[in-house]
Amino acid sequence: MSLTKQEKQSLIDLANVARQRAYVPYSKYPVGSTLRTKTGRVYTGVNVENAAYPQTMCAERVAIFKAVSEGEREFEVITVVTDNGGSPCGGCRQVMAEFGLDTIVLLADGSGKLIKEMTVRELLPEAFTPVDLGK
Ligand code: THU
Repeated sequence: MSLTKQEKQSLIDLANVARQRAYVPYSKYPVGSTLRTKTGRVYTGVNVENAAYPQTMCAERVAIFKAVSEGEREFEVITVVTDNGGSPCGGCRQVMAEFGLDTIVLLADGSGKLIKEMTVRELLPEAFTPVDLGK
């Protein structure tokens, strides 16, 4: 699967627009995500924080859970947009890995600049996946 520069940029731009809806009264670190599935649909996600801090949910996981709850399990690309092009947390890497190590991950900063591109396999080497459970 190959993505054009324009496709990458429009997914990043959409995540950056979604990012404005992040609920981040505590960290003030808004994160936006877009997930394109193999069916061609695009799901957005933002981080949603909570006064009970551990109940916070990351943007990537919101996008993934929205997609899965709509019946989608095969992903092509996921974007993560933050102020500084920050990298996905370990928990999000694990959730990405559940649905395929070949998914492309695009990290971008608040100006919409693509900072890094990699696969989930590269982001989480030696991942524990459904294969380890014989699935
Ligand atoms: N956050 C994400 O949304 N995704 C990540 O992969 C890293 C962290 C959020 C969680 C919290 O709302 C804020 O960024 C600071 O940790």
